[in-house]
This record gives sequence, C-alpha cells and structure tokens, in this order.
Amino acid sequence: MEKREKLYEGKAKIVYAANEPGFIIQYFKDDATAFNALKRGTIVGKGVVNNRMSAVLFTMLAKKGVPTHFVETLSDREMLCRRLDIIKIETIARNVVAGSLAKRTGLPEGTAIRQPVLELYYKSDPLGDPMINEEHVRMLKLATPREVAWIKRMALKINGLLRPYLRRKGLLLVDFKLEFGRHAGRLWLGDEISPDTCRLWDADTNEKLDKDRFRRDLGGVEEAYQEVYRRVVGPA
Ligand code: C5P
Repeated sequence: MEKREKLYEGKAKIVYAANEPGFIIQYFKDDATAFNALKRGTIVGKGVVNNRMSAVLFTMLAKKGVPTHFVETLSDREMLCRRLDIIKIETIARNVVAGSLAKRTGLPEGTAIRQPVLELYYKSDPLGDPMINEEHVRMLKLATPREVAWIKRMALKINGLLRPYLRRKGLLLVDFKLEFGRHAGRLWLGDEISPDTCRLWDADTNEKLDKDRFRRDLGGVEEAYQEVYRRVVGPA
C-alpha cells in the first residue's frame, strides 16, 4: 500500500490517503503540543514510540473483539488504517484522579477511583475541546444515542482489557482518551493509544511515564517514552 495525497495534518500526526479507497496511512510526528497548542515542542523518537505502541495495543484489542481501524504497520512511523468518518467526540476513561479531573473536583491527584469514570468532550480545536454530556451530543448531532451507548460500552471494555495488560508491564493506566469513527456501516476505534493519549505511571513508584512530563516541564521526556516502549513493545 502506498501514500497518496495528504488529507489532514494534525498536531502529532499526518493522515494520507492510501492507494486503495477506504484506507489511510497515519504518519506519526515527533511534534508535541499541549494546552490546545499554546505549548509546542519536539519529543525526539516519539513518533516511533506512538506508532509501534499503538500497533501492539490495537492488535491486542482486536484479538479480544474490539474493532479497530489498525490494519498493519508499514514502517517505524507509519501504519495502514481503515478510513473512518471520525465522530467529533473524545471519550476519556479514568481509573485514578489526575489532570483536569483533579482540578474539577479538588480531589488530590492519585486518588483511586472505585468504578471507572467516563467523560465526553467535544472534539473542537477552536473551542478547546470542552466537556459535554449526552444531551449536548444529541443537540449537536455528533452521534446517535445508540452510537453513544456503544461508545461508552466499548470504552469500558477497552479499559478492562488495557488496564491489566499494562499492569503486567509494570504500568498503571491512570486515564486515557479514545476516538471512534464510522466505516462500512459500523463503528471502529481510531486514532492512537500512546503516552500522548494515556497517563501511565510506574506501577511501583507512581513515576509519570507519559506526556505530562512535557506538559509540566518535568524533564526526562524522551527517556519516559523510551521506557514505555521497552515495556510495551520490547527492547528497541
Ligand atoms: O487533561 P485531562 O486530565 O482531561 O486528560 C485526560 C486524559 O486524556 C489524559 O490521558 C490525556 O493525555 C488525554 N487527552 C488526550 N487528548 C486531549 C485531552 C486529553 O489525549 N485532547
């Protein structure tokens, strides 16, 4: 499969049409942004980590019955995917209080959550991805009630698969973001699953091994991405 025209360039990825209709190629960049692109930088090697790690996790999820857009890895930075009509909802699943949930609730970061918390956000760069509820989804016609029900069920299923899988690699899955889209008359998991889109803490020390190191200027950003790569993908 070959790259054709550029369809879209995002903050961390470029999406190209593939030479067969119904497929796209995701190219993973080293560019990093945070706070709705107010903060910009580069994390050397991030594109390779995110591409390879997403491939491993999409493959594991597919084996367990999660429909994903991933088809195959093409290179260190490229994966072939089904072309989705992306639903403009970001679904976040949380197992431990962190980030915006700590701010919103006043609970200290690191507080365990007994039952996973799901949140929906409106995927809109100009608006800065505000949190929305199912009434807003209906009002904005982002997805049907049936689609939202499926997305919520699938997000919980994915959390139930990813959490123990990553725990066996010594990683605590604190929270993560998912995107879904339509293709061939059904819904699929899209985008990526990586230290850009997940909070991952060392299971023993709670050391942050994800994009928060970049967002919060904690240093050791590249090293954290490489450590996650070693644990999830294997020795480089
Ligand atoms: O910032 P917040 O605490 O709401 O983020 C929750 C989770 O969703 C984090 O793992 C973060 O990396 C991810 N996220 C994302 N893309 C966004 C917003 C959040 O990947 N636009």
